Amino acid sequence: MKKSVRKAIIAGNWKMNKTRPEAKALLEEIKPLVANADVEVVACVPFTNLETAIAATEGSNIKIGAENVHFEKSGAYTGEISADMLVELGVEYVVIGHSERRQYFAETDETVNKRTKAALAAGLKPIVCVGELLWERECSITEEVIARQIKLDLYDIPAEDVKKTVIAYEPVWAIGTGKTATADQAEEVCALIRATLAKLYDEETAQAVTIQYGGSMNAGNCAELLSKENVDGGLIGGASLKAADFNTIVQAAVNG
Ligand code: 13P
Repeated sequence: MKKSVRKAIIAGNWKMNKTRPEAKALLEEIKPLVANADVEVVACVPFTNLETAIAATEGSNIKIGAENVHFEKSGAYTGEISADMLVELGVEYVVIGHSERRQYFAETDETVNKRTKAALAAGLKPIVCVGELLWERECSITEEVIARQIKLDLYDIPAEDVKKTVIAYEPVWAIGTGKTATADQAEEVCALIRATLAKLYDEETAQAVTIQYGGSMNAGNCAELLSKENVDGGLIGGASLKAADFNTIVQAAVNG
């Protein structure tokens, strides 16, 4: 990453894991390990763990994120959580458009765009996920797929808001499969995302945006991935549930 322009963000995405006591225990374990790390450390946790996680990390350098947010301010949306509800708890980040939500919960680029706008309007920092399916990569349309997602997901969002938005490049074929994109593949797509942002906005805006890689990032492969110029951090699933592994990734970002 370009340290002169951007600060790395290492975010755990816990997905549907951990009860409240388990969440507290994991955060207590992570806290001292990352206490002096000069990178942004974030844990995105299930809704039920948010209050516990915020209390457990108070006064530390760990920021807490949610894993989704609804786009309406309030109303008859059974089972949904609004951006204001998250902000009131003390949540700072929110994952939007994760491929698991696109795949299993009918998330579309249109709803990703609406959720991102709602999050920004409430003062949350969105982590917007994009990524191609395996067959899309095999058909050599990765570039089109990613550029389309970026254009649609960020539609009508002004430059000053895009600068507060984190983009996570997560190739769907690399999530939870143990198959990681090579560092060169990750760099190629993260650079493409930045070039797309430069076209949609301008070079200064594109340089200001943090672009993470996600997909089987772990203690063994993180250093190489994070050494790439356009890889500004990671969105980490499985390895974020193990304190030592998560810390190794944080330290790799410090040195990257
Ligand atoms: P894994 O790190 O478990 O592959 O998950 C990546 C991910 O989906 C993070 O959002």
